[in-house]
Amino acid sequence: MWTRLAPAPFEPGGGMPPGAVPVRWEIAEDERFGIILRSGTTTADHRHGYAVHIEVGGLRPGRHYFYRFLVDGIASPVGRTRTAPLIMPDRLRAVFASCQHYEAGYFSAHLHIAADDPDLVLFLGDYIYETDPTDAGIRIHRNPQPTDLDGYRLRYATYKLDPLLQAAHRSAPWIVIPDDHEVADNYGADRDGHGTDPATFLRRRAAAYQAWYEHMPVRASAQPSGSVARLYRSIEWGGLARFQLLDDRQYRDPPVCQPKDRLTNIPHWLRPDCAARRDTGRSMLGHTQEEWLDGQLAQSPARWNILAQQTLLLPYCRYAPGTAPERPDLFNLDTWSGYPAARDRIVRRWRDTRTSNPVILSGDVHAFIAADHADPDDPRRIIASEFVGGSVTSPNHDQRLAEAAGQEPGFRFVDGSAHGYGQLELTPDRCTITYRAVTDVRAPNSGVRDLARFVIENGRTGLQQV
Ligand SMILES: [Fe+2]
Repeated sequence: MWTRLAPAPFEPGGGMPPGAVPVRWEIAEDERFGIILRSGTTTADHRHGYAVHIEVGGLRPGRHYFYRFLVDGIASPVGRTRTAPLIMPDRLRAVFASCQHYEAGYFSAHLHIAADDPDLVLFLGDYIYETDPTDAGIRIHRNPQPTDLDGYRLRYATYKLDPLLQAAHRSAPWIVIPDDHEVADNYGADRDGHGTDPATFLRRRAAAYQAWYEHMPVRASAQPSGSVARLYRSIEWGGLARFQLLDDRQYRDPPVCQPKDRLTNIPHWLRPDCAARRDTGRSMLGHTQEEWLDGQLAQSPARWNILAQQTLLLPYCRYAPGTAPERPDLFNLDTWSGYPAARDRIVRRWRDTRTSNPVILSGDVHAFIAADHADPDDPRRIIASEFVGGSVTSPNHDQRLAEAAGQEPGFRFVDGSAHGYGQLELTPDRCTITYRAVTDVRAPNSGVRDLARFVIENGRTGLQQV
């Protein structure tokens, strides 16, 4: 359970007096807190931005609970959460979402997420955008691009005050991982992509990680130590699902294929191919996280193994060779396309350990995508399927993705213009993914429609659009 005390979020210290404040927390089975099942008192202090993270044991599995916080007798809004089941349930209904640029639209996707009443919400990154305010959108960031802790706290204040986002948080437990914009666009390890001195950038990363921790419902084990935070982890759902949550950013090898001459009119994250891109030693996850994932996949007892991670796992070339002769082959080296050998290792691991029903959920690229991953050693054999659930608001930044995807193996569905989120429904027999598109991202009360639906049957690889 998480809260943060900030009665005046845009004032220094969030409007809190210096020092420590006692905070009481309560859990009940009913919304009116008639019988309080668990309660306690902790302290919120200025060093941690008056954030409160509570881990509660002793609750019953597979149940809804209500929780709230009290300070000086004043109660917070009531949140509803759910404990994971201990034995295999008939069904899990989750949603997954990513990429909510505040200036690009209203968060009506979250209105519909709350109305869906999911068992859990997976947020796969770009919860905030660190970018400077612009007058191009329909809302505006209130502070300049943050580089220190105070700046990132102000940026979170803008997002956390959104009533639709608040409603989605109150409706269900959230499982969150950060992507690049929680820190800096397309950062990797100690590099921000703009040539900043790594030591300077790591100070910024430390501030960004600390602010992320202060604003997210995560365990104390995710608390950063300086610029380092252990964010990869797994979550069990009663034998029906195991979620493997990855950290694509913190440990990745540096980008390669830097052209000698700057390419004009091409975004900096698109680069022509080179041999170094395919170096088998390149790692996206770093050695320690890869070993951890290998163990997770080899020992998983779950029916469905959900790899929840930041960016598109399926490698693709933006222009198939020959389609744009005046341009070189360009790869998005910020995605797994920059680390194809690392992707192949995961696919082979699924194959060799006979991991049960691997499914990938991804964000980052601001498009709805459904794709199949083939065995790197046998392109006719499908091993896993991947789903990118659009963006809550952020504009598509790669309009050619759909065009390139049509020419490349694996892609089964691409929509780069709609915004929204994905629904994930798991039963012991079937995985169903439904893409939900908001009607108008610029409307605060937008409607929603089903954009596409896909099914994977237990034990049968490959997605089917239905
Ligand atoms: Fe994004």
